[in-house]
Amino acid sequence: MKDTFHLSTQVLGLLGHPIKHTYSPFIHNMAIDLLGLDYIYLPFDVPQSNLRNALRGILALGIKGFNVTIPHKEAMVGYVNSLSEEAGIIGSVNTVVNEMGKLVGYNTDVTGVIETLNPFKDEIANNEVTVVGAGGACRAVIYSLIRNFKPSQINIVNRTEQRADSLKNYFYEKMKYENFKTFELFPPDLVEVFRNSKLIVNATSVGMFPEIEDTIINLNNAFGKDQIVFDLVYNPPQTQLLKIAAGEGARTINGINMLVHQGAKSFELWTGEKMPVEKISDALTLYINKN
Ligand SMILES: NC(=O)c1ccc[n+]([C@@H]2O[C@H](COP(=O)([O-])OP(=O)(O)OC[C@H]3O[C@@H](n4cnc5c(N)ncnc54)[C@H](OP(=O)(O)O)[C@@H]3O)[C@@H](O)[C@H]2O)c1
Repeated sequence: MKDTFHLSTQVLGLLGHPIKHTYSPFIHNMAIDLLGLDYIYLPFDVPQSNLRNALRGILALGIKGFNVTIPHKEAMVGYVNSLSEEAGIIGSVNTVVNEMGKLVGYNTDVTGVIETLNPFKDEIANNEVTVVGAGGACRAVIYSLIRNFKPSQINIVNRTEQRADSLKNYFYEKMKYENFKTFELFPPDLVEVFRNSKLIVNATSVGMFPEIEDTIINLNNAFGKDQIVFDLVYNPPQTQLLKIAAGEGARTINGINMLVHQGAKSFELWTGEKMPVEKISDALTLYINKN
C-alpha cells in the first residue's frame, strides 16, 4: 500500500460491523497501487447506532465513495439521496458514490454475478437453475438471473422454506417474474432438483471458514458434467461443495471472481478507472490460501 499522501489524496472506504475479515482494502489498495492513483481505501468499523453520524462525517470530510457491508446494506437504502435501478429493486446498497454532497446508492453484487456467469450465458438461457439461499446475496443472484440470463425456471432452495416463498413473492411483485419453484433444504429430496439444473448457485454461508467441512448437499449423483456450480463463498476458495461437484464432473466457480468483479464495478464508479481484475483475483486467491 502507498505510504505517501497529499492534500489531493482521495479517501474511499468500507462501512460495516464487524469488518475484521474483509478483503476489500486488499482489493482496492492493490488496484490503486497497480494503476498509480492518488486514492486510499480504509475500513471503518461502524455499528448501527453510529451509522447516521458516520454518514455526516463522510459528507463533512468529502470522502469520495464507500462500500457498505453487514449489517448496513438494507438500511443504507433509506440514507442515500438516490438509488440505481438494481439497488432499488433488490432493496440493498453495497456501494455509495458521493456526488458533490449527494449520496448515490448502487448494488455492484449484481455486476459481480453477471460478470462471473457471462461466459455461460448461452447454456443458462432456457434451462432450469437452482439457487440455494434467501438472504441479501441471493436477491442479487436472482435479480441478475432474471435480467441477464433468461432461465426457464428458478428453483429457490432454503433452510427456512418460508423465506424462499417470500423471495418468490418479492420478485413477482418487483419484476413480474413468476417461473419459480421453492423447496426446503432437505437433501434427499433435492438430488433430482439439482440434477435437472444447468446452474446451481450456493448463496448461503454454508462451507465458509471456519466451518469448511460443511456443504449444502453431500449426496452422490447430485451433479454431472453438463452442469455449472457457482459457490458465492470465497474463503476457502475451494469449498467442500465445489470439491464434490468437481468430483462428479461439474464445472465449478468460486466466490473470488464475484468478489473482485463487484469491487471492480465500485472502483469504476468512484475513480472512472478499470480495475485489473485478473491480477487481483490471482493475488487474492494466494493471500486467502496463505492466511
Ligand atoms: N462472493 C461475493 O462477492 C459475495 C457477495 C455477497 C455475499 N457473499 C457470500 O454469500 C453468503 C450469503 O450472504 P448473505 O449476505 O446473503 O447472507 P444472509 O443474508 O445472512 O443469508 C444467509 C443465507 O444462508 C442460509 N444459511 C445460513 N446458515 C445456514 C445453515 N447452517 N444451513 C443452511 N442454510 C444456512 C440462510 O438460511 P435461513 O433463511 O434459513 O436463515 C440464508 O438463506 C455469505 O457466505 C457471503 O460471504 C459473497
